[in-house]
Amino acid sequence: MSRVETLIGDMTLAEKLGQLTMTASSYAVTGPVIAGDSTESIRDGTLGNLLNMVGADHVFEMQRLAVEGSRLGIPLLIGLDIIHGHRTLFPVPLAEAALFDPEAWTLTAREAAAEGAADGLAMTFAPMLDVSRDPRWGRGVESFGEDPWLGVRMAEAKIRGFQGADLAAAGSLAACAKHFCAYGPVTAGREYAAVDVSERSLQEVHLPPFAAAIAAGVATVMPSFTDLAGVPMTANIPLLRGWLRAEHGFDGVIVSDYNAIAELINHGVAADLVEAATLALKAGVDIDMMSDAYRRGLPPALERGLVTMSEIDAAVRRVLTLKEQLGLFEDPYRRGAKAESPVAVANRRQIARSVGARAIVMLKNENNALPLSRPVRQLAVIGPLADACAEMGGAWGAAQKAEDHVTVVAGFRAALPKVEILHSAGVAIQSKDTKGIQRALDVCTQADEILLCVGEGAYMSGEAASRAQLGLPGEQRAFAEAVFDHAKALGKRVIVVLFSGRPLVVPWLFEKADAVLAAWFLGSEAGNALADVVTGRVSPSGRTPITWPRAVGQIPIFFGQRPSGRPFNPQDHFTSKYLDVSNEPLFHFGHGLTYGRFALSNLRVTPERVTESDTIEVRVAVTNEGARAAEETVFLFTHDKVASVTRPLLELKGFGKIALGPGETGTVTLRLRATDLRFPGLDLQPVFEPGEVEILAGPCADRARLLVQSVRLFA
Ligand code: GLC
Repeated sequence: MSRVETLIGDMTLAEKLGQLTMTASSYAVTGPVIAGDSTESIRDGTLGNLLNMVGADHVFEMQRLAVEGSRLGIPLLIGLDIIHGHRTLFPVPLAEAALFDPEAWTLTAREAAAEGAADGLAMTFAPMLDVSRDPRWGRGVESFGEDPWLGVRMAEAKIRGFQGADLAAAGSLAACAKHFCAYGPVTAGREYAAVDVSERSLQEVHLPPFAAAIAAGVATVMPSFTDLAGVPMTANIPLLRGWLRAEHGFDGVIVSDYNAIAELINHGVAADLVEAATLALKAGVDIDMMSDAYRRGLPPALERGLVTMSEIDAAVRRVLTLKEQLGLFEDPYRRGAKAESPVAVANRRQIARSVGARAIVMLKNENNALPLSRPVRQLAVIGPLADACAEMGGAWGAAQKAEDHVTVVAGFRAALPKVEILHSAGVAIQSKDTKGIQRALDVCTQADEILLCVGEGAYMSGEAASRAQLGLPGEQRAFAEAVFDHAKALGKRVIVVLFSGRPLVVPWLFEKADAVLAAWFLGSEAGNALADVVTGRVSPSGRTPITWPRAVGQIPIFFGQRPSGRPFNPQDHFTSKYLDVSNEPLFHFGHGLTYGRFALSNLRVTPERVTESDTIEVRVAVTNEGARAAEETVFLFTHDKVASVTRPLLELKGFGKIALGPGETGTVTLRLRATDLRFPGLDLQPVFEPGEVEILAGPCADRARLLVQSVRLFA
């Protein structure tokens, strides 16, 4: 008989429920702290999983309690939110998405897994796969942005990176596809609010990244906190037992979100912990994170016949199987047995710097502001985010050592040793105090060039960080406008570095700045990455993975909208528009300037008559008409003009990159399987419908800038 079955046969109910419980932990000066519990529970086998315990020494101490101190010696599963790096932080996921480079996404996940595993961890609660189209919602910073096709690529890349080729390897972590599903469209962008989306939206938008995660072999899935059309995800049998397990064959572990099982009471679908535990177990949730509903609610539920022992055993089986797959039984001390070499860590910082530079999106660049090419003796690096190491990590910094992050000031001092870097914060990120503005203006008077670093603080995006107004926080607008006015009077340019976990709605800033770099939150090497781009050592290549609104009132605004029966027509009042704001975003999905200037031409699509077994080849010529070498990203979209259901105006189906020197021309070739043109038909089943489909290629989701050629599909 297998180890798992033997153990299940030996386990008491209390030991089984221990394997279905995950509790937050930490290591204080006084020793281990187990939230609401104690290490006794590890010793007596009634607590089988932890989160947030970091450090091989601390993890080993906890493992020894389980493996050598408990009756059955079942090793602990210990996880942490390693979302965009462990101690070395890479750019936040929304910034990483701007690279449009799956290899880079895999690389940073691999590096993060190695660093987390070296600290003894065996699981990360990542990747976050929620399609994010509402910048009022704070968690878009953890996502890949607005497009499900991009989400599919990100899911594949991140799971490959975190889990590697062998889940039991010392450098591999169990990944967690979260938050299942459709968490992004919370009502009014307000965190944790109810969600109500159509079945079609689920099938076309929110589920594809999770389907990709399952196909990529993700080890665990985490349901979202939210209520989806009246059924909280933590108790959602149709989607957990139905879509996830039965239809897509996911047989891994479902771990609840933090306290989410107990919160079924707040949702109003459970009267107490017994009912909440019953609902979650029936839905297929295996591990109860932090609500203690399983340990306290399932024994009475069992007595009352609300659940069966075989349902409990099925959950225990999946948890023990995961621990086996991770090699925890074989060697519970494998992860963390060997400290990483300084060379490995130094190399990781170089990767963080390179990925950081590539995540920067140059949204505007006029008056030859960038790259800095004129002689500079004194450079003003001002603003509340200029010398703020604690902010550079962004949300979900996990085990970051913020003091190790390179600030903007530090990055420029290192990059320009002969230049005097003048700094003044001007104002704080959120305070009302404007006394420091004059000092910052005096610094601008002295300097040859001005770098104004403004934006959100690290924790103004991420979980529980919705914002109803998406401007600059605190007195930063007053500060920025004073800088713009003062610089103008001095005849000086202002380069803005905008830090945020979402697109900020600051049209006035884009109006007045000579150049704007979206820096999102770039992680440990933020200052060096920014200096590399501003000095021209690296040509900016990032593209925004989320549409940038002109006004909060436009939200949700995204390129994959469906048509209207009355599409906007300036000559016709009764068409789809606002009376006070344009329909157009400030920047389209995919926007991003470089130090080159690219022209696309000569779109060739073959074959023009397409059957379902064909692969469509799309080639487009790209010329760098600029004076500097740069990298262009060419996006491939489709638009199904007439179908049995309305189709999005644009659907992303691919992207390609090409680096070209000044005056050079090259060809980007993209391939699209005709089967990728299937979509959920009227009955929501996949269909491949004959008819005309437009193939579009270009630098962003602005149809006016796309080259178009139609093909005809034949069944
Ligand atoms: C949080 C988040 C989830 C995270 C978990 C553990 O509340 O919703 O993304 O993985 O709890 O920290």
